[in-house]
Amino acid sequence: MARHPARAGLTQRKMIKGVSLRLCVSALNFKHMNNHTTKIKIENLDLFIGKNHILKNINAEIPKNKLTVILGPSGCGKTTLLKCLNRLMDIYPDVKVNGNIFIDSQDILHTKNNLNVLRQRMGLLSQQPYPLPMNIYRNITYGLRISGRRKKKFLDKRVEHYLNMVNLWDEVKDRLKEPASRLSIGQQQRLCLARGLAVDPEIILADEPTSALDPISSEAIEKKFTELKSRYTIVVVTHILRQAKRVADNVIFMYLGEVIEQGPAEEIFNNPKEKKTKQFIKGVFN
Ligand SMILES: Nc1ncnc2c1ncn2[C@@H]1O[C@H](COP(=O)(O)OP(=O)(O)O)[C@@H](O)[C@H]1O
Ligand SMILES: [Mg+2]
Repeated sequence: MARHPARAGLTQRKMIKGVSLRLCVSALNFKHMNNHTTKIKIENLDLFIGKNHILKNINAEIPKNKLTVILGPSGCGKTTLLKCLNRLMDIYPDVKVNGNIFIDSQDILHTKNNLNVLRQRMGLLSQQPYPLPMNIYRNITYGLRISGRRKKKFLDKRVEHYLNMVNLWDEVKDRLKEPASRLSIGQQQRLCLARGLAVDPEIILADEPTSALDPISSEAIEKKFTELKSRYTIVVVTHILRQAKRVADNVIFMYLGEVIEQGPAEEIFNNPKEKKTKQFIKGVFN
């Protein structure tokens, strides 16, 4: 099924038990194929909710400072996989997870460290923007205040900096003390992105971030991601093939809880190897 090198190695191992030379060749292939730095590595991840097997033996690599799209039809497990990366699945009852997720080689699934520290490393953007019930200025300074930064001059500068980063400063600089809820949905999504960036994350996780937005706001968010990706590792979940084609450097294609195929975007889109990927690209599932 999946073309992941770790899986290929596993199959080889099963087939030729005890023949260590072949294993070495497999390991060499694995290294050879990774000419990027891996930021997130997912190994043999299974997730059950009650008796339902939602994620099935997921093996995937997410390269550093690139934009990876998790692509696949609705219900295939994209959101669930994304939520595993910041341990948000922990909040649901009856969830059982096996396997490993490494971020910079740190095992984040079995860590005893404070999860807030882990989550601060990742900005999260959801389908609907959720501005905090406070003014625009306070939305941006919320995380900074929690970490003890309270000097007005410093906060003023940060607010301008992050609102500029998402191209919102000019639109809101004269109304910073207005409730964030008065902004348009497209502006709210950019505000949420700025709020996420203000805690200085390494990774941005975005779950169908443009699904509630009009085409112009969607384009603004997509453009922003492509500008930000040299400084952040960005993971975008989408079921929209056209969007994936516009933004992805790297693609993880999922179907019914499995990773079917993954790799550089041009390979997946121009030369897909698996039947399911070919069908999705042809629009069979839409
Ligand atoms: N909290 C939950 N409780 C029960 N089932 C869930 C829960 N979250 C997701 N699922 C199920 O897991 C599967 C994958 O869902 P999801 O990850 O949201 O897919 P996608 O984001 O690809 O549309 C679906 O069948 C969904 O019904
Ligand atoms: Mg989803």
